[in-house]
Amino acid sequence: MSISVHELGYLGFEVSDLRAWENFASNVLGLEVLPAPVAADGKAARLLRMDDAVQRFVLAEGPADDCAFAGWRVDDVAEFGRKLDALGVKWAKGSAPELELRGVDAMLHFRDPDGNRHEVFSGLKKASKPFASSKVASGFVTGGAGLGHAVYQSADYPAAVAFAQSVLGLKISDYIDVTVAPGMSFEVAFFHANERHHSYAVAPRPPIPGPVKRMHHFMLETRTVADVGLARDRCAAAGFPVAMDIGQHPNDKMVSFYGQTPSGVLVEFGCGGLLVDDADWTIGRFTQMSEWGHRGPASPTA
Ligand SMILES: [Fe+2]
Repeated sequence: MSISVHELGYLGFEVSDLRAWENFASNVLGLEVLPAPVAADGKAARLLRMDDAVQRFVLAEGPADDCAFAGWRVDDVAEFGRKLDALGVKWAKGSAPELELRGVDAMLHFRDPDGNRHEVFSGLKKASKPFASSKVASGFVTGGAGLGHAVYQSADYPAAVAFAQSVLGLKISDYIDVTVAPGMSFEVAFFHANERHHSYAVAPRPPIPGPVKRMHHFMLETRTVADVGLARDRCAAAGFPVAMDIGQHPNDKMVSFYGQTPSGVLVEFGCGGLLVDDADWTIGRFTQMSEWGHRGPASPTA
């Protein structure tokens, strides 16, 4: 039996400006902001809700302004630990305060080849109250498909692709070859864990001077294009950069825009993502990131 993760259950971020994140999460994304039940290693923390789970995001105050961990739901955490042992991947059990902060019954954590922290968990608790967004009328698509997706930038792309398959047990959905200049292109790999087209994707880290975020973006999916457009307008009106305006990807068919979180990591906010059925799925290869739109503010064709 192959032991795989089933969904991207939660994401943790270390953020330098908790107040700005509270404003962005609540007033732009339409998420619910809650005080954390315990501090995160002594640092102030907040939880963000987007469905009936007690949290889908953990924000902890700190200087990194990047993703701190990704939480993957598994059937049996101890069994996953034995798989990690067999693969020679070092891991450690989550501490009691870490379990309490996340609202899970069990958790262990390990690192990928880029040093990103991944966690596998079971028993994510339900909140005592139903979720209702005051901003996003149609709500978010989650359930067994998880919170959305996360896209990482890797310094060792082949190792990151191998890790996603062998350790997390994710399946390739497709690839996009992105040409940035004549003769200069790179491949992005997209992976699914359930019917969502991708829960995880990885791209080579761009060869630019200065620090590069571990995570390029995470994605939240709503049910109507009106909720995507309204979020895009709230983002611009609140003074947060619209990094890429509304457009559509060729592989998952998501209609989305990209806003810039207060940490600089982007958030893709979309609707209409394609569903994968492994019984009749063929791995595709695409030659452009967007079929239309997704123009940046500096794009000459914007
Ligand atoms: Fe995306």
